[in-house]
Amino acid sequence: MLAFRPMTMRERLALLERRAAEAELGGGAARLKVQHDKGKLSARERLDLLLDDGSFVELDRFVVHRSHDFGLEEQRVFGDGVVTGYGRIEGRLVYVFSQDFTVFGGSLSEAFAEKICKIMDLAVRNGAPVIGLNDSGGARIQEGVVSLGGYAEIFLRNTMASGVVPQISAILGPCAGGAVYSPAITDFTYMVRKTSYMFVTGPNVVKTVTHEDVTMEELGGADTHTATSGVAHFAHDSEAACLQAIRELFRYIPSNNVDEPPRGRGTDPRDRRDEALLDVVPDNPNKPYDMHEVIRRIVDDGTFYEVQREFAANILCGYAHLGGYSVGIVANQPAMLAGVLDINASIKAARFIRFCDAFNIPIVTLEDVPGFLPGVSQEHNGIIRHGAKLLYAYCEATVPKLTVITRKAYGGAYDVMSSKHIRGDLNLAWPTAEIAVMGPKGAVEVLFRKDIAESDDPTAATDAKISEYREKFAHPYVAAGRGYLDDIIDPRDTRPRLIDALDTLRTKRDRNPPKKHGNIPL
Ligand code: HXC
Repeated sequence: MLAFRPMTMRERLALLERRAAEAELGGGAARLKVQHDKGKLSARERLDLLLDDGSFVELDRFVVHRSHDFGLEEQRVFGDGVVTGYGRIEGRLVYVFSQDFTVFGGSLSEAFAEKICKIMDLAVRNGAPVIGLNDSGGARIQEGVVSLGGYAEIFLRNTMASGVVPQISAILGPCAGGAVYSPAITDFTYMVRKTSYMFVTGPNVVKTVTHEDVTMEELGGADTHTATSGVAHFAHDSEAACLQAIRELFRYIPSNNVDEPPRGRGTDPRDRRDEALLDVVPDNPNKPYDMHEVIRRIVDDGTFYEVQREFAANILCGYAHLGGYSVGIVANQPAMLAGVLDINASIKAARFIRFCDAFNIPIVTLEDVPGFLPGVSQEHNGIIRHGAKLLYAYCEATVPKLTVITRKAYGGAYDVMSSKHIRGDLNLAWPTAEIAVMGPKGAVEVLFRKDIAESDDPTAATDAKISEYREKFAHPYVAAGRGYLDDIIDPRDTRPRLIDALDTLRTKRDRNPPKKHGNIPL
């Protein structure tokens, strides 16, 4: 009879090494080749690009699924199709999961979901962001309802973590069915053109149900979701560019809802005046100009991290540093639809503002808005309800709110765009500002329709009334006379004035009344 001999430490280490190597391999060399041939990186290669060199620490690499159906007991892969753990971005702690399509198509099992939930719980407990790299065939079909339950556990955690730690999703392959709802709850979604797609039902089901022919890319590709649906915030041409862009986002956002956002490292002088700002706004109030130009000239080193650039381009949202302070910029864009507020612009800016407010990022509003967009389609699709989202988001925000009216501030849009009345902390206007209930032409048509109709020369009468109205209202002095504006400034001083205000607002304290939660008009 052979005597039992316990394993030596060296033998145990050799076993650990073998198993670790197996876990590292995921679904095997052949499947990895298929992954690469599709132009996609492996789950681990992605983490290498996302995180600071050598900073990734893996958790749960020996977890396996517990299923016995459909031959699954024969196929257990260490890690079970998702690589989870933590690492650093520019030295800051982040929790990550990276779905591995080479293992059961990255499909989500009970064990897989538990791994994701574990790192989400750790992230919330330790006040660190969660970044999810998605590349999955959805619920693991062999596990049935257990897999669906796993998704629900993740959705619950996404919701609980919302507003506590930033949550970021990169879609780097398929993301279909109910699986899309986790990224949809997260704060920012990044996609890659031609290799990633998101949809509730794919082209085949669409064809059966609605008889529409559509490709994956058209239905749920990166350009579709960044330009048309607004589901995603960023589209990139490669995974490397996408992961680098996520790293850059961390220059502006804090790790949690208690921390301050990171300071910029630029060297742009705080007191820099910009001569060119004198000539940005055309003398003719109906001529467009590019608000990007204004932003570029005001912020540190001209660097603007724009969010949802392709969606509702009539409003610009994005991050920058001003005198080193991280700020969220919301700006009407006169170069697109005259900067009008429509449904998509309202939704886009409202969500952006709510992220800034939840994460202590001051909001700088640059305003040139002719009002809300008129039209049957806008009304029937609920511009009232959606416009109210933007109003609500601005009203409830308690972070520092700075506003500069560069030109038009007409009608309800004047109120909405961070006016003094809804707790704007600093409201400035350039001398070109026009603040009134409506534009001169519309106002004259309402007020003097009869007089004009009865006049000998209606065109001359209209022009005369427009001039009179312009003189009375199309300037900032009525608002400034009431204290609705704190000052009218030389445009060249915009940057130093905003930075100075941010200094004063560092100690701002403002609270909303205690409540379970508000009821934003969804
Ligand atoms: C188990 C899966 C799987 C899944 C893929 N695989 N999806 N295994 N459950 N959901 C396996 C495949 O069997 C295959 O295994 C390997 O992953 C790669 O899949 P392929 O089909 O060869 O890859 P590809 O041709 O690139 O196609 C990818 C795909 C396709 C389009 C994602 O696999 C697919 O349609 N999968 C099913 C998608 C789906 O209907 N999921 C459920 C959605 S509903 P081998 O061993 O051959 O390599 C859902 C509900 C969520 O997710 C609920 C939340 C509320």
